[in-house]
Amino acid sequence: MSPFLLTRTLPEDATDAALRADVQHGLTGTPKTLPPKWFYDAQGSELFEQITELTEYYPTRAEREILIARSTEIAEATGARTLIELGSGSSEKTRYLLDALTDLHTYIPVDVSESALTQAGQALVAERPGLQVHALIADFTASVTLPDTPGPRLIAFLGGTIGNLLPAERAAFFKAIRSLLSPGDALLLGTDLVKDEKVLVRAYDDAAGVTAAFNKNVLTVVNRELGADFDPGAFDHVALWDTENEWIEMRLRSHTAQTVKIPALDLAVDFDEGEELRTEVSAKFRKEGVRAELSTAGLELAHWWTDGEERFALSLSVAR
Ligand code: SAH
Ligand code: AVI
Repeated sequence: MSPFLLTRTLPEDATDAALRADVQHGLTGTPKTLPPKWFYDAQGSELFEQITELTEYYPTRAEREILIARSTEIAEATGARTLIELGSGSSEKTRYLLDALTDLHTYIPVDVSESALTQAGQALVAERPGLQVHALIADFTASVTLPDTPGPRLIAFLGGTIGNLLPAERAAFFKAIRSLLSPGDALLLGTDLVKDEKVLVRAYDDAAGVTAAFNKNVLTVVNRELGADFDPGAFDHVALWDTENEWIEMRLRSHTAQTVKIPALDLAVDFDEGEELRTEVSAKFRKEGVRAELSTAGLELAHWWTDGEERFALSLSVAR
């Protein structure tokens, strides 16, 4: 079996410092916010996997359909020898790309979730003798240093996770991606598309309450890591469609007026009755918008593929 390498690109205490800064900043601002990357401890990563299997949550199935249909074309167009995947999670859909990329030398999954990287990486090297997997524990919104492996490089960013970044963060992110590529290298990007509001809201407010549990998991993470006393039962899960920004917003609404203590920050946070804490945006896209954002960063849209119901798009763009 080929080796599975796992590298932490940030010091052990960097995550702790980043969580402290985000919680301090997010819970003392108006409105209150927390960045979505803190959902993904081992429990959050597991809950996300459950979400991908829900009837209401179509993006995973739609993107899988496109990957099944297009992976050979993607492999031929890119000839990639190094596949870097940002926010790789379980790497489940990536298997279609790995099957098609016949000249692949190294697969580099990048994620903040150590549990997801370890499970996925160990399974992949066991399944695929000869495949080099070099996983990186890293924040893809910070600068990522990649190991020195042969080109051409293909960066995959699947699942619609780009929609979890705010517009200014997306612009910085695309620029950073471009800086990791040489001319001719490619970006494979999954984007969920604007569609009927009811379909969208249902995908983020499922009948079984799995998304509600995923949303509240961020409170459990803050409790465990910073000694806070959030009662997840004292908040309601909210998912709403913002027509102007064309994004879904997930929030946690406080049932009552309450004060939450966060000892590690020496902070007490007051919530009014009904006050909402924004935990995630999930932007939905249109082709011309994606083309323009990529182009500004020096990436030329070369292919745009959708599933049969045109719910989700996978695009391939090439570094100029
Ligand atoms: N690509 C997979 C997983 C999507 S879930 C799919 O399509 O199913 C989003 C993934 O991104 C999670 O595994 C989460 O841990 C990771 N993630 C979220 N924010 C991140 C960040 N800032 N840096 C690195 N990984 C992040
Ligand atoms: C990871 N990301 C693309 C998911 C999404 O759809 O925005 C996270 C998620 N949030 C609620 N359900 C799934």
